[in-house]
Amino acid sequence: MRFPITWLSGLAALPVVLASWPMFYNTAELEVTPPFTNQEPDVHVETLFQFPNNGSWIDNLVVRSDGNLLLTRLDTPEVWLVNTTSGNATLVYSFPNVTSCFGISEIENDVFAVIVGNFSTKTFQPAAGSFSLQKLDFTNIPSSAEERQSENPSASEIAALPETVAPNGMATFSRASNLVLIADSPKGVIWKVNTKTGDYTVALNDTTMLPAKGQSLPLGVNSLTVLDDYVHYTSTTQMKYCRVKVDLDANPIGDFEVVASGFLPDNIEVTEDGTAYIPTGPQNSVVRITPLGQIALVAGGQISTEMPGPSSIRLSKGRQSLYVGTSGGQIAPVLGTFVEPAKVLIITLGGKGWR
Ligand SMILES: *[C@@H]1O[C@H](CO)[C@@H](O)[C@H](O)[C@H]1NC(C)=O
Ligand SMILES: *[C@@H]1O[C@H](CO)[C@@H](O)[C@H](O)[C@H]1NC(C)=O
Ligand SMILES: *[C@@H]1O[C@H](CO)[C@@H](O)[C@H](O)[C@H]1NC(C)=O
Ligand SMILES: *[C@@H]1O[C@H](CO)[C@@H](O)[C@H](O)[C@H]1NC(C)=O
Ligand SMILES: *[C@@H]1O[C@H](CO)[C@@H](O)[C@H](O)[C@H]1NC(C)=O
Ligand SMILES: *[C@@H]1O[C@H](CO)[C@@H](O)[C@H](O)[C@H]1NC(C)=O
Repeated sequence: MRFPITWLSGLAALPVVLASWPMFYNTAELEVTPPFTNQEPDVHVETLFQFPNNGSWIDNLVVRSDGNLLLTRLDTPEVWLVNTTSGNATLVYSFPNVTSCFGISEIENDVFAVIVGNFSTKTFQPAAGSFSLQKLDFTNIPSSAEERQSENPSASEIAALPETVAPNGMATFSRASNLVLIADSPKGVIWKVNTKTGDYTVALNDTTMLPAKGQSLPLGVNSLTVLDDYVHYTSTTQMKYCRVKVDLDANPIGDFEVVASGFLPDNIEVTEDGTAYIPTGPQNSVVRITPLGQIALVAGGQISTEMPGPSSIRLSKGRQSLYVGTSGGQIAPVLGTFVEPAKVLIITLGGKGWR
């Protein structure tokens, strides 16, 4: 696709991020198109909650039916509940025998699937054969705040995932067929798992999902979401946001289309009208992308400390605002030096009330 000339002024900022990823990115191999300069007018950003310690890393978020958030952490095997009214956060579950949590998705009312496994946030190495899909069931937990804080959800294993290399983002494909889809970043495929039987197979496999050649961090397809009969996914080192039409079993029935490219996408959220919101990890921003592939900056920025390392994004229950989780900038400190503890931000769109 072609970019309007105004976006070219974003060029100057790009060498900063690429310079700060020398460990993982051979920049000569990356075809960089400068994506964003036009900041939206009515955007308000505030911190809802921040962890106390550097090294904390939010991997994924999910909004519960009561509007509160569950978040997973990469640096510890923990799931936290964030009260979106008060900003209070509480640990709800710590998985034994693993180091990290990845994608999280609601599979039945107040029952969540969580990917866990052994992974180093220092070397970015996944431990082969350590990954599994777990279930966190909140349905028997008292609804009052006081009681709830003292009760943990019950956990059980849905399936070991020994064939996966590093399962990462996850989305519920269909509750009726009990299918979740899981992006395997180094393997470059999307798996489907039946959460009732534990059976899993490759659902989607395309070259747009593979890690880019010449990059030492093998991070291909990162995250996905399902809207109508399309699976939308991000592919990080290929710098692509793509979509594909699928049938009721999540088999591809159309072309794998590149919607937009030229930035480093992490998670993805798509609204009913097809607008995508994507946090850009080491580019420290959230961008908005129309179904035709036009990109605009929503908040943050390459050299801004507003949101160092945004990793995950979800629309609020009222769909007026976005929650964004960060890594505190651990992969690529802002301007090469700035890191902070992980946090959850609220981005309010269009000057409307938030939450
Ligand atoms: C947050 O939780 C703590 C401990 O449960 C409580 O003392 C405090 O009042 C809560 N704060 C808000 C704003 O709800
Ligand atoms: C920890 O995981 C390993 C590898 O899957 C397994 O052999 C072992 O039984 C597990 N230990 C516990 C306490 O669950
Ligand atoms: C994770 O790593 C620890 C330490 O090496 C090991 O004891 C444990 O079995 C591993 N867990 C799994 C599920 O493989
Ligand atoms: C969230 O915080 C609000 C305000 O402190 C409180 O009224 C509410 O009960 C809390 N919700 C949960 C689920 O703890
Ligand atoms: C993905 O497709 C390619 C090309 O058909 C094939 O070589 C590869 O084995 C497939 N990967 C998986 C994990 O099925
Ligand atoms: C986090 O690390 C930065 C850079 O080293 C330091 O300036 C900051 O004080 C640290 N913050 C915390 C909460 O430890």
